[in-house]
Amino acid sequence: MADERVRRIGILTGGGDCPGLNAVIRAVTKTAVLDYCVEVIGIEDGFEGLVEGHMRELGYADVSGIITLGGTILGTSNKGDPWHYPDTGPDGRTVIVNASQRALKNYRQWGLDALIAIGGDGTMKIADQFTALGANVVGVPKTIDNDLSGTDMTFGFDTAVSIATEAIDRLHTTASSHHRVMILEVMGRYAGWIALCSGVAGGADIILLPEIPFRWESVCRKIRERSTRGRRYSIVCVAEGAKCPDIGEVVKSYDNKRTDAKQLGGVGDLVARTIAELTEVETRVTVLGHLQRGGSPTALDRILATKYGVTACRLAVERKFGMMAALQGQTIVPIPIKTAIAELKTVTPDNQTVLAARSVGTSFGDE
Ligand code: F6P
Repeated sequence: MADERVRRIGILTGGGDCPGLNAVIRAVTKTAVLDYCVEVIGIEDGFEGLVEGHMRELGYADVSGIITLGGTILGTSNKGDPWHYPDTGPDGRTVIVNASQRALKNYRQWGLDALIAIGGDGTMKIADQFTALGANVVGVPKTIDNDLSGTDMTFGFDTAVSIATEAIDRLHTTASSHHRVMILEVMGRYAGWIALCSGVAGGADIILLPEIPFRWESVCRKIRERSTRGRRYSIVCVAEGAKCPDIGEVVKSYDNKRTDAKQLGGVGDLVARTIAELTEVETRVTVLGHLQRGGSPTALDRILATKYGVTACRLAVERKFGMMAALQGQTIVPIPIKTAIAELKTVTPDNQTVLAARSVGTSFGDE
């Protein structure tokens, strides 16, 4: 019988970066080295590195002291989908090709017994396809958007919420000094988790989410009501994916090379302009952007990332492939990658945080 022992694990970080990636890389590598005497190969720039053949060995010293570090020491890319791979055509122009066999060839040539893919839904979809091609893949759920199914929380989300909450706290004082409506546009793609949680934590007066259709009359009524009660300022926290009446999602640009071609952005400006027109109150916009993804992870994200990394390493050594480490309650459990990507986890109208926000008078622009 063939020796089935896992001796060499590859690890990559795919899609947009987020705080906690290095904590996972550290946890996987240290567990592999200390508990299992398994070698770790770091693949650079996500699946792009697997296609292009860019990797380096990772040892204990390489991951020492990186738990506090934002970003990813391996680099990442959201243009590395092997099944939708941007390559240079004969005329020098970019063509999209299927480079999955190139990725599989490198996986085999490097002698990998397993691959740990750390990423969001785009990366998990690729991980699932790579499993179907015959590779041994284990997933770790990363994204500030918190939109992967089957897990209560992705790592990176708590840090993004903390940063957005601090921004709202700071906007409060300047909003009240100038009697303005301050609009904060936060990330989250098609899910409103960052806007909802930071909006509640920061005490935003209005929260606009992709999942709850809003009306301009309702948003402006809330601002006027506050004014009548002597509150001559308001804070609006809007998710980048919130759908404006008659317009829908506000898209900044399209790039066919990306795993998700659509780049959202600009809804904050639209909300600010419309509120100013309809209420004649002065408005200002802050787009928090990539600040939400940069810098050091919170303590919660460091702990979560460490538990995810240790579990993913164990799953790989135990040959539990096609699985992703997931948080359910207080426990990290293995779930099929297919469950995580079956549908996006979005905010439901009966979500307890939504109901709590309504009870304390927060408007979702739908009353
Ligand atoms: O998925 C994470 C995320 O930060 C989204 O919230 C946002 O829409 C997107 O990535 C931005 O991507 P990029 O880094 O390509 O600007």
